[in-house]
Amino acid sequence: MKIFLDTADLDEIRRAAEARLIDGVTTNPSLLAKSAGDREPVEVFMEISRLVDGPISAEVVATDTEGMVTEGEKLAALHENIVVKVPLTEAGLRACRTLSDREIRTNVTLCFSAVQALLAAKAGATYISPFVGRLDDVGHDGMEVLAEIRDLYDTYGYDTEILAASLRHPRHVLEAMKVGADVATLPPKVLYQLMHHPLTESGLATFLSDWEGLGRAL
Ligand code: E4P
Repeated sequence: MKIFLDTADLDEIRRAAEARLIDGVTTNPSLLAKSAGDREPVEVFMEISRLVDGPISAEVVATDTEGMVTEGEKLAALHENIVVKVPLTEAGLRACRTLSDREIRTNVTLCFSAVQALLAAKAGATYISPFVGRLDDVGHDGMEVLAEIRDLYDTYGYDTEILAASLRHPRHVLEAMKVGADVATLPPKVLYQLMHHPLTESGLATFLSDWEGLGRAL
């Protein structure tokens, strides 16, 4: 399963990319609003493209098909790794089909059901982004929706990749792996939570104090 970082924070992206922990990046308008500061959004996407050699999702903000296609073409022209993110609306699905026919990769976002995911696959989406945490927030079972999408895509042979989004904690990541998501996009906090375990920390402390007792150098 590939791991993408879900942020527009350049310092966080640099940190994870230098450690080779991530295969790509996802952003959305809210993440840009939080992190762009004085930078133009396109500058942020360009800088991310310099930091990460993998798919980078950049979202359109138009709400009509023509506007989405125009923005999508502009974003895709920035760098070969840019994937155009469109919302799962009728206009978004039409834009997805047009962009896909023009060989521009797409990520259909704000997916909350398997039947929505079916339409995205039929529109030629490269990625579908079911929002697991936001479904859990409203009392639904986000992971069940992810599993339904996996079954549906496998049964009908769609090659749209399932990008598990809105993951809030390590358990979400594990469950997304178990149901066969192709990608998990994680906020930086969740990425670093994955590597911590109290037994690793206490085990290392013991190794180091025993080694100190030996009084030798390597
Ligand atoms: C995915 O592409 C979205 O940017 C993201 O995962 C949404 O997560 P949130 O529900 O925590 O905002």
